[in-house]
Amino acid sequence: MLENFNDMLMKAKKNKYSVPQFNINNLEWTKYILEECQEQGIPVILGVSEGAARYMGGYNIVSSMVKAVIKDLNITIPVCLHLDHGSYDACFKAIDAGFSSVMIDASRKELDKNIEITKKIVDYAHPFNVSVEAEIGHIGGAEDGIASEVFYAKVDECEKLYKETSIDALAPALGSVHGPYKGEPKLDFTTMKKINDTLPIPLVLHGGSGIPEAQIKEAISCGISKINVNTDLQIVWAKAVREFLNDKDSVYDPRKIIGSGESAIKDKIKELISIFGTEKAK
Ligand code: 13P
Repeated sequence: MLENFNDMLMKAKKNKYSVPQFNINNLEWTKYILEECQEQGIPVILGVSEGAARYMGGYNIVSSMVKAVIKDLNITIPVCLHLDHGSYDACFKAIDAGFSSVMIDASRKELDKNIEITKKIVDYAHPFNVSVEAEIGHIGGAEDGIASEVFYAKVDECEKLYKETSIDALAPALGSVHGPYKGEPKLDFTTMKKINDTLPIPLVLHGGSGIPEAQIKEAISCGISKINVNTDLQIVWAKAVREFLNDKDSVYDPRKIIGSGESAIKDKIKELISIFGTEKAK
């Protein structure tokens, strides 16, 4: 059974740790992440970008696959299936397909338009018990091959967005970027803390790959309760598969090739959840 992120993130906010959102790309990613989080006994959010949903064939395929993996692998930890950076139309499609959570990303619009769009998604999602994350400011970098600039969130705008929409979590853009960082990340912890002191809902840090441990810990102490990770798992998987193929040039079984990255993904998950303090969820 899937659940929305409210319970898992409110506990994380209260007890100062973060729940990971790991983005999935296929059946193998889903299995590896769920198996490792089950092994560790921690809740997890499976993030699905629009590009990843297209790649896997559609929202119904993703939703059915995740539910089937949970059932057949006897996964008993809390699992949330979350649309990552959804457009207006994609949010409806994901909710209709059985996702338990969506992120509506109208962050490139003017504030009033962002509020109007986000509110429509909240009104549709909440009767289905689906949680909603919104973004304010703009998280830069490149995701699904689309590059964009960073705009920092402002406290009063975050407050207005929250009050007028009743969102369940907020991703305020405060300097993090998707994909690898060029140099040290420059996160605005002062504003992060102010937003956390002002809003009662959990805050989300996007672009969780490649942020130094000390900055992750500081972000958690400033109220970050959900950290999104995509690139880190892709990098360790690709490295392991590349080494495997270089080593064994006669292998052609796709199960062996894809599976050669399994332990690299699982080891990275273990490392990250220990930094995020997620074991406190037990
Ligand atoms: P990274 O790819 O940088 O880990 O960012 C993931 C993310 O924020 C998904 O929304």
